[in-house]
Amino acid sequence: MSKFIIDGGRKLTGELTIHGAKNSVLPILAATLLIDHSTIHNCPSLTDVDASFNILTNLGCQVVREGNSVTVQTQGMNGCTIPEHLMREMRSSIVFLGAVVARCGKAVISMPGGCELGPRPIDLHLSSLEKLGVTIKEDHGYLNCTVEDKLRGATISLPFPSVGATENIMLAACTAEGETIIHNPAREPEIVDLANFLQRAGARIHIGENGTIYIQGVKKLYPTEHTVIPDRIAAATYLCCTAITGGEVLLKNVMPQHLTAVFPVLEEAGCRLRCAGGTIHLEGPQRPRPLRMVRTMPYPGFPTDAQSPMMALSCIASGTSVLVENIFENRYKHAYELTRMGARIHLEGRVAVVEGVPKLHGARVVCTDLRGGAALCCAALAAEGQSEVTKINHIERGYQDFDKNLRSLGAIIKKVSE
Ligand code: UD1
Repeated sequence: MSKFIIDGGRKLTGELTIHGAKNSVLPILAATLLIDHSTIHNCPSLTDVDASFNILTNLGCQVVREGNSVTVQTQGMNGCTIPEHLMREMRSSIVFLGAVVARCGKAVISMPGGCELGPRPIDLHLSSLEKLGVTIKEDHGYLNCTVEDKLRGATISLPFPSVGATENIMLAACTAEGETIIHNPAREPEIVDLANFLQRAGARIHIGENGTIYIQGVKKLYPTEHTVIPDRIAAATYLCCTAITGGEVLLKNVMPQHLTAVFPVLEEAGCRLRCAGGTIHLEGPQRPRPLRMVRTMPYPGFPTDAQSPMMALSCIASGTSVLVENIFENRYKHAYELTRMGARIHLEGRVAVVEGVPKLHGARVVCTDLRGGAALCCAALAAEGQSEVTKINHIERGYQDFDKNLRSLGAIIKKVSE
């Protein structure tokens, strides 16, 4: 297990190219199961991506990476079971369910592992797949899924726009018989990216103006290539890391239109932002100003994944900030670690009240989850003295070359083996 040692207090300056989106590439890798041969460009190098490769190869597929491009050949697929150790490696492995069941007419998967963000139920995934004709039986921690005859399109209204459930329905519905309509689906850019990938492969998917997704089942999908969209959460994280140090950064390979809910919050903190083409330029404030109210919401609202780095930024604001976490019940674990660095955070259920302090101080802190871990590094970059950030395997699930990127901007951060 490795850890980061960070000496805080250096302004970050420079340019950074943002990698492909984790939350896009994972469902797209699951979608490759529906196609004989796919090539995916801008595929980030992340442990969650490796976990997806492991699932694919375990099912008998061939995965070859050349630089940022990955080809997946599925003709050799010879199984429909995803064993427990692979399901536990990555929480979002559940998105393979829709694809495996569509490809094989059955699937056996272990329940995905418990989660650091609180209970992460999959009831919407399962009830939606049942509507498409999947029979699901639970057996000793495994889900035995079978399709009697064939998958059939259905109208599904999601009570909450779950990202993963929307993806699972899309994957199962592409080659189902007839039309599937998803009311109140998730509208995240990663959903649109998955739809674009599937469309390129011949799927008939249409996203209506109110977000409703219409899928006309086709017999077969065909070999295709696709370039994954840039990671908006990695971009938001590096913007917070720069802002907290009062630095200046130019992010390249980004889609600023995916960050419209994040920009006003950074501006409220006193950042100056300029977007041009696929770039974002940020100039951080001397000291961040407090944030009146940051409420996480399904897209196009403020992303829950950016809540923790934004909380880190608010820790040294010149006043009191309020954050409200509306997506996950238990997404403030990083707050306890931030208080070890001198932050003043009061939690009351979904609400966090952050009283800004003039300075944080270095401390030994433990990553609690992916984005929470990134938030601790963000705070450590601005803290006085040295911080030790452990359990960075969480960070490596979703950020490629995190320490290297920060170093390239002038941060003093090194990765050491414990
Ligand atoms: C995805 C993202 C994750 C992000 C989240 C919310 C990926 C790989 N992960 O996760 O980074 O934080 O969207 O934007 O894309 N829920 C249920 N029942 C279900 C499914 C979800 O109650 O069957 C609840 C969850 O407990 C949670 C909320 O719905 O409270 C949002 O979950 P969901 O949108 O499904 O998130 P994920 O797809 O897990």
